[in-house]
Amino acid sequence: MPEETFTPLSDTQTPPTYRFFNGKEWVVSKSGKTTELKSPIDGEIVGKLQLVTHDEIDAVLEKAKQVQPLWEATPLHQRVKVMHLTADWIRHMEDYCTSLLMREIGKTTGDAKSEIVRTADLIDYIADEVISLRGETLDSDNFPGFEKGRTAIVEWVAHGVVVCIAPFNYPVNLSASKIVPALLMGNTVVFKPPTQGGISALHLAQLFIKAGLPEGVLSVVTGSGEEIGDYLVTHKHVNMVAFTGSSDVGVHIATKTGMIPLLFECGGNNPTLVLPDADMEPTAREIIKGGFSYSGQRCTAIKYVLGTQSTLDTLLPIILANMKDTVVMGDPRSPETKLVGPVISEAAAAKVQAAVDEAVKGGAEAVAGGHTKGNYVEPTLLKNVKPQMNVVATEVFGPVISFIPVASIDEAISIINTSTYGLQASVFTKDEGTGLVIAKKINVGTVQINGSPQRGPDHFPFMGVKHSGLGVQGVRYSLEAMSRLKSTVINKPS
Ligand code: G3P
Repeated sequence: MPEETFTPLSDTQTPPTYRFFNGKEWVVSKSGKTTELKSPIDGEIVGKLQLVTHDEIDAVLEKAKQVQPLWEATPLHQRVKVMHLTADWIRHMEDYCTSLLMREIGKTTGDAKSEIVRTADLIDYIADEVISLRGETLDSDNFPGFEKGRTAIVEWVAHGVVVCIAPFNYPVNLSASKIVPALLMGNTVVFKPPTQGGISALHLAQLFIKAGLPEGVLSVVTGSGEEIGDYLVTHKHVNMVAFTGSSDVGVHIATKTGMIPLLFECGGNNPTLVLPDADMEPTAREIIKGGFSYSGQRCTAIKYVLGTQSTLDTLLPIILANMKDTVVMGDPRSPETKLVGPVISEAAAAKVQAAVDEAVKGGAEAVAGGHTKGNYVEPTLLKNVKPQMNVVATEVFGPVISFIPVASIDEAISIINTSTYGLQASVFTKDEGTGLVIAKKINVGTVQINGSPQRGPDHFPFMGVKHSGLGVQGVRYSLEAMSRLKSTVINKPS
């Protein structure tokens, strides 16, 4: 079944060369250029992706613009049906997609499977939710000085053509989380998958097509951000960009696009404040999970922990003791491996290691890990870290948690609020009232009380402030972001 289902995606060579989807069929680019994707697990080439040309992007966008009004006019229940069918296809292909994802981006079996299952559930949930999204009517006489007789009909309408750009760490889930609400709200989509993770993303796209999307409604263009990114997001036919990726790229896109709606989820350095009264065992387990899941390559990963010196002195040995059973670095395919596998590339590992080295040179101490071999970065705990060190001040996309001693809660809040990031933060305390008071003072998208930062459950709002994002995602919020309000006013003739 997998072979038959995915036949059009690539040739039959080993490793396969994948095609891109021009809205109608899977084709080879006229550029004659491809990019090789290596598995982070062992460096084996998983496949090659096309580098599409600017002419090919023009053609895809032309088609997307042309068919958009027809797609928006398609009855919503038909659009909903395509999404549910896609979710069914994903469940049907769960094992195949899981192993592909593992090999392509080095997720453990558990993490890869959960991404696939979560994606199917997310698609169903969004497709169910859209049915209850409705506009409203407003009457003129509610406002002082106005008589009855004028009625505003306020509706959600599509933006037009939406470019969706997804990252390597959730190439299936964070693609679907953009594509599905965009399509359901009547937009057409030009999808640019991540380069690493691109093969899994192409398979997802194929399932949308198999579920029955009409020609031109979804197309998939591949190529590096450096080579096609600017051309794509500044194209005159593009009406909105939805992007997940680094803050640097987010800022770059925002300065290029001009006045179109943007929905961005960018980097985070997610602090955790532990109060002296916190229940230290569950706090330690949350910090481990929050910092080391998928080798710390989540924009919601915990990057630093703040507490008084005595709180950290109590907490650190408990974290170290818990790590013995719960964190085992290794080949993500092995059942022995827990939480930490390879990071996405040796270049990414070198960047993480450079930040660790800088911290150690500046006086921090590695109480666990601290070293890298190839692209395997040891799960690392650094104590006596200073906020200005790169392990805290920049987004270190690897399994590193820094511990910063503070004299007071106010000092901790000031460190958090000084950051250029503002995705999520956690506060651990037995006193939820105190947690709420502190949460109000922290300038981030979401504060978690007694839990590690995380996006899910996926109908919760997900957003960042400062360089961590623009706009709000999460089932209903994404549907609203992928559309705009339009008002038509009926006036009584005088
Ligand atoms: O972009 C968000 C992603 O990196 C984190 O999602 O579900 O692991 O918190 P999650």
